[in-house]
Amino acid sequence: MNIVNEADTTNERLRETQDAFDSVAADYDGARGNNDLIQDMRKEMWRWLDATFAPGRRLIDLGCGTGLDAVRMAQSGFEITATDWSAQMVARTRDRAERAKLTERVHTVNVGAHDLARLPGSGIYAGAYSNLGPLNCVPDLSAVSRECARLLEPGGSLVFTVIGRICPWEIAHYASQRRWSRIKVRFAANLVPVGMNKRTIWTRYYGPREFYRAFEKDFTLTHYRGLCVFAPPPYLTGVRERHPRLYERLWRVDRRVAGLPFLRGMGDHFLIVMRKR
Ligand SMILES: C[S@@+](CC[C@H](N)C(=O)[O-])C[C@H]1O[C@@H](n2cnc3c(N)ncnc32)[C@H](O)[C@@H]1O
Repeated sequence: MNIVNEADTTNERLRETQDAFDSVAADYDGARGNNDLIQDMRKEMWRWLDATFAPGRRLIDLGCGTGLDAVRMAQSGFEITATDWSAQMVARTRDRAERAKLTERVHTVNVGAHDLARLPGSGIYAGAYSNLGPLNCVPDLSAVSRECARLLEPGGSLVFTVIGRICPWEIAHYASQRRWSRIKVRFAANLVPVGMNKRTIWTRYYGPREFYRAFEKDFTLTHYRGLCVFAPPPYLTGVRERHPRLYERLWRVDRRVAGLPFLRGMGDHFLIVMRKR
């Protein structure tokens, strides 16, 4: 493919992904409808955000979705620039901030994480976070690293949750149905099409170390850990409904040990913390 065609394909895929998320924004909160497993992962992210940043600072939310994190962080005293590639998601974040009377602390911007050059400023943010996979939809992560390095103050931090490659539950789930090609999806080298609402999201899966490589020029790696290594991934809601006590136990194990070597490379998602060099 020549350079012009490649750029056209990338832009077309970004537009398809944007259209897919616009189409579900009305009933989305990290997943369509109510999803307690997603909200458990979200609380874990909040724990890490609280441990990383001091209240009162300015943070960027990359792929803010419907604004659950942005409003929660604003309620905790942060000033949030909430960004998303989907205009409909940004509108929901704005609505949520208005209802919470937090528009002075939540500034919404319809910009993709692949296009952060459009965000003005240099060294003015204490950090950036991104929750539940927006960065899986970005074609070139090194551009995210470069622009975050510009926007963050020296020593500023990044806290991301990213969809991982090795999800033990997913492998077991699809293996039990002999859907071998479905298991292979997370191991693709590049962006792959994933259906949502009869549309297409272009997604690339990563292992934590592989993900970090795109950031290592500008950031040091502070910590990474698996999310949903032992607990089932959010789309297997039936497991939690049928076995709530087992689920609680697995989630507790997850929180305790998913930062250990070997286990930290697995999970439906992983959480990664990096610090600006
Ligand atoms: C799974 S949702 C997560 C939303 C939110 N962070 C949360 O925790 O609920 C993924 C979000 O990423 C956004 N997104 C997709 N591609 C993006 C891109 N290139 N840049 C920024 N956001 C993107 C989508 O519009 C959607 O809001």
